[in-house]
Amino acid sequence: MSEILVTGGAGYIGSHVVRRLAEKNFTPLVYDNLSGGFRDFVRGFDFIEGDIGDYEALTKLFRARKISCVMNFASYIAVGESVRDPLKYYDNNVSKTFTLFRAMRDAGVKNFIFSSSAAVYGDPESTPIVEESPLRPASPYGRTKYFIEEALRDLEVSDAFQSVRLRYFNAAGADASGDIGESHVPETHLVPLVLRAALDPSYTITVFGRNYDTADGTCVRDYIHVNDLADAHVLAVERLLAGKGSAAYNLGNGSGFSVLEVIESVRRVTGASFSVADGQRRPGDPAVLIASSRKAMEELGWTPRFTKLDEIVETAWRWERQGNRKGW
Ligand SMILES: NC(=O)c1ccc[n+]([C@@H]2O[C@H](COP(=O)([O-])OP(=O)(O)OC[C@H]3O[C@@H](n4cnc5c(N)ncnc54)[C@H](O)[C@@H]3O)[C@@H](O)[C@H]2O)c1
Repeated sequence: MSEILVTGGAGYIGSHVVRRLAEKNFTPLVYDNLSGGFRDFVRGFDFIEGDIGDYEALTKLFRARKISCVMNFASYIAVGESVRDPLKYYDNNVSKTFTLFRAMRDAGVKNFIFSSSAAVYGDPESTPIVEESPLRPASPYGRTKYFIEEALRDLEVSDAFQSVRLRYFNAAGADASGDIGESHVPETHLVPLVLRAALDPSYTITVFGRNYDTADGTCVRDYIHVNDLADAHVLAVERLLAGKGSAAYNLGNGSGFSVLEVIESVRRVTGASFSVADGQRRPGDPAVLIASSRKAMEELGWTPRFTKLDEIVETAWRWERQGNRKGW
């Protein structure tokens, strides 16, 4: 059985991947500093509280265990905050990831799966976005992902690292069990925030800009179910362990939904009525981000199972209704 170190594994996406790895007979070992994740998201799994910037702790861990691959979800994730405090993001998402690389290299662990993002593309020239599109991140957050992707290419040459860089579009939804789900504090993502409006009459959802060049004037995004992302991670590990080499893949559904369409979907799924306010455009928000995931489908054999927005929203709604969210 192959032991996979899942750094940042107690967060939203990581905890779903941990479950899927175990279902597929891998042995996940979760390593997380709990700055944004939760111990009870990975209850029942091997867990170590630690920071990816702690070289000594990682080195000890690599010596003690037989790790065949590292999957790194550990990162700060709020685009707006990264604009206000870029050093916080460069420190955690870049410097500390370099420390993780150093510990991996010194221990001879060379397989790495990276949570990259659609943010590496910035405002794309055309959609659907293919992996060969220029990487022109428009925020410090996006640049942290870009820097790590570039570093991985250097480490391939210098240290024989093999990496799969997975560029997620908008992760959404929750495990069917309803006991793990999206719980960022503060929450900045659209689907949970619209669900909040459905749950809490005192909360108003804000639409940031209605004058984009899209059918209804609001931003269009590609929503990908978190369990579809989890499937792709398992396929990516299998690819690396089979020695098939490094690659970058977009992970999205291939269809776009506008902010107003998400709001309508939440109204349909929850049956709730709630008010919507208008706000200013946010700097750096591209009008449309839609992935071409053809490469992941062809090379990894990946097929997203949740293709309808309402299905994704239903699973997120089940999670929110459980009341296990850790805050807003
Ligand atoms: N949520 C999305 O839609 C989305 C889209 C694209 C990319 N991503 C990327 O996917 C990854 C996971 O995102 P998420 O939504 O699950 O976020 P999350 O905040 O729920 O998970 C991140 C986890 O990393 C941990 N962490 C952060 N810094 C750490 C450090 N220095 N050492 C150890 N642990 C640390 C946090 O405690 C948390 O558990 C991130 O890298 C994010 O940038 C997310």
